[in-house]
Amino acid sequence: MTATSERYCLHCGMDSQRVRRCGYGGCRPEDGGLPVVADPHGLDPGSILNGKYLVGRVLGHGAFGITYVGVHRDVGLRVAIKEFLPTNIAARSKDQRSVVCRTGVLKADYQVGVESFLNEARTLARLNGAKNVVQVRDFFTENNTAYVVMEFVTGRNVQEWLESVDGPLERDDVLWLADELLQGLAAIHAAGVLHRDIKPTNLMVTPEPSRGLRIIDFGTARSFAGASAAAMTRFVTDGYSAPEQYSRDVQGPGADLYAAAATLITLATGVVPPAVPERMISDSGPTLRAVARRLGQARAEAIGAAWSIDPSARPASAADFRAALNSAIGSETDEGSDRSLVLWLVAGAGIIGLMCVVLLFILLGGSK
Ligand SMILES: Nc1ncnc2c1ncn2[C@@H]1O[C@H](COP(=O)(O)OP(=O)(O)O)[C@@H](O)[C@H]1O
Ligand SMILES: [Mg+2]
Ligand SMILES: [Zn+2]
Repeated sequence: MTATSERYCLHCGMDSQRVRRCGYGGCRPEDGGLPVVADPHGLDPGSILNGKYLVGRVLGHGAFGITYVGVHRDVGLRVAIKEFLPTNIAARSKDQRSVVCRTGVLKADYQVGVESFLNEARTLARLNGAKNVVQVRDFFTENNTAYVVMEFVTGRNVQEWLESVDGPLERDDVLWLADELLQGLAAIHAAGVLHRDIKPTNLMVTPEPSRGLRIIDFGTARSFAGASAAAMTRFVTDGYSAPEQYSRDVQGPGADLYAAAATLITLATGVVPPAVPERMISDSGPTLRAVARRLGQARAEAIGAAWSIDPSARPASAADFRAALNSAIGSETDEGSDRSLVLWLVAGAGIIGLMCVVLLFILLGGSK
């Protein structure tokens, strides 16, 4: 079913009667917008979901689902729609709409996945109002799978920000992101949800003047993927996932704190920290010293604690991690102390030089 695509741009979801330029690479909704190529795994652009959501282009597809630009047609509101589609056990059927489980044996797993996807949407919907977490507007089942409708976040993800500066972010930006991220995680954990995949691509930043952070891409699907031996595939992101996610040990909020710490290391140094298997054989010292040079020793220690291999050595909560970072406010960065060391050396050399001149003067004066 396709409809109304002439009013809304399927590329950006903007109303062509109200918006001329959407900002996406010169997209002009009034001229029908940029061409949208159907994704081989996605729903056809122009499809309608739940009788009211127009499906636009694919924003991204991961191991657990596909995210689309969408429009709530009744109100003309742009949204983002996430479809549950765990590629390890399911695929799009030939009708191009429904999602089917690949084998009969995994059907039960698949149903568990759909249920937990909806449960998480329900929990996140209750969390609406937490300023750093993407808002959930609706959720429903259709096409033998489930969908979550979210607010459309304008802006870019933090990975894109990092790439645009081609190096580490400014210290103040890292500290701002840390503060927003840890507030968001505190709200998520208070609702009893774990994110499980905190990393720069899953953090979006809205543009100035109302700069804000939104955590996206939640991961009940990830916990379900580990629920059954049959569906078992390792779902980790090297450099960000905590050791207990590799070993499938019990996971708590500490796994998100580890990933938050790893994210802050990337932002502060411009380099993704070593992944867990690598850390087992290499020294973490150089990474944390690089953080200290950018953010100061006290903050590097707070980040290092959250980045502990041993979950029990990490802060007890996102709030504790945030407090540890904030209590380091005003601490000198190593870069700063390097500078002051140079200043001291120059001053010292100056004083010694002056004393030599005075001494020489006295000696010469005395010898007259
Ligand atoms: N609510 C949203 N508003 C705007 N863009 C979004 C939204 N959710 C996701 N995106 C974009 O789609 C990309 C993929 O979405 P995400 O939920 O991270 O799924 P996955 O990583 O599994 O593909 C994100 O990096 C982001 O650029
Ligand atoms: Mg993602
Ligand atoms: Zn457009």
